[in-house]
Amino acid sequence: MANACGFLTSSFSSLRIKVQPFESEGLLRTRAVVVCSSGIEDVGKHVSPSPVDQSLKLVSNGCKLVGCGSAVPSLSISNYDLGKIVDTSDEWISARTGIRNRRVLSGNESLRSLAAEAARKALEMADVDADDLDLILMCTSTPDNLFGDAPQVQRDLGCTKTPIACDIRAACSGFMLGLFSAACYVKGGGLHKILVIGADAVSRFTDWTDRGTCVLFGDAAGAVVVQACNAEEDGLLSFDLHSDGEGGRHLGSTIKYTQTNDLSGSNGSVFEFPSRKSSYPFVQMNGQEVFRFAARRVPQSIETALKKASLTASGIDWLLLHQANQRIIDAVATRLEFPPEKVISNLANYGNTSAASIPLALDEAVRSGKVKQGHTIAAAGFGAGLTWASAIIRWG
Ligand code: ACO
Repeated sequence: MANACGFLTSSFSSLRIKVQPFESEGLLRTRAVVVCSSGIEDVGKHVSPSPVDQSLKLVSNGCKLVGCGSAVPSLSISNYDLGKIVDTSDEWISARTGIRNRRVLSGNESLRSLAAEAARKALEMADVDADDLDLILMCTSTPDNLFGDAPQVQRDLGCTKTPIACDIRAACSGFMLGLFSAACYVKGGGLHKILVIGADAVSRFTDWTDRGTCVLFGDAAGAVVVQACNAEEDGLLSFDLHSDGEGGRHLGSTIKYTQTNDLSGSNGSVFEFPSRKSSYPFVQMNGQEVFRFAARRVPQSIETALKKASLTASGIDWLLLHQANQRIIDAVATRLEFPPEKVISNLANYGNTSAASIPLALDEAVRSGKVKQGHTIAAAGFGAGLTWASAIIRWG
């Protein structure tokens, strides 16, 4: 958010976007400059070596979604396939979750390659050149590189002028956080074109011998292009965002340490260092608690977002929820009185794809002609953290 000094704090504590107002041809204009803020004496030092000129850009009052794309791995795993490796059945999985198939990364596929494919499709639909992007946000909790995938996706897209690309980590709410961040960067920071990618490969952290979790997840990527516009055309109408660390114990993959050296007789000598190995375990989940949390919190959050946008559920064209479980989607739709024909669901084909699920379902709905220019969508993500986030969106 812009503070009194006109700075917009980015998702990196060490980076800021400084908005400098100036007058030109009778218009109040601004130029946005990426600055390093590691110390007060550093302000003004350009971080990006990029030749991109952020000057002469108006800070816009609105932003809208102008393109979308998605990509899924080639390997498809059906409920019948899973029935061969764990004690489960198509009947149980489809009745309890609505899932029938999921895609899983294999061979040379990587999350990065999926993300770049989804991004290219979104840029093509938006008719935006990759070099014209001001920012790339990659929303993922399962990156190829622990320290972030966005700069590599930036490279894969051939962006030579885009000043910054960074990751956002908020599990299944990640894409909604990405949209919110994009709206802030446009409406407060003077950026004009932002690529928001939601991509996850939860299969990497799935215990394929645990029938309680392995039937739920799949891998995918989805992307949208967010573009500055005037206030009348604004398409990101409102947001409602939450997190609750207390509930985090119900779902996650918390780092585990394995003791490798016994330091008890060594006075903690540095020669015994490092004393332990660390790794992330498979996803642990209390399904019933997560189900209850989602069924309670998501409708409340959407109602708040609707109120902020001065709209009611009856005036919204589509309900688009994180695709985790058809029973959660149905429960939320019933609570908000959305009829089934207004509910977007592609869960049966892909399972829970975490941060990718909303942009993947949006992309299919747009390309199939379901979601049309000007349609309104109530969207919500929820999951690990715990986190949950809603937005009221107008497409196109
Ligand atoms: N096949 C057959 N039986 C199974 C399976 C399976 N795959 N999984 C569990 N069971 C059994 C259980 O062992 C249990 O048997 P028991 O009665 O003999 O003890 C029985 O089925 C019922 O198990 P429950 O866990 O009570 O089943 P439930 O109806 O709660 O469904 C599910 C489980 C599908 C996981 C559900 O709780 C759910 O969807 N929860 C929400 C998950 C979710 O939304 N996660 C979002 C995470 S997104 C992110 O942030 C990564």
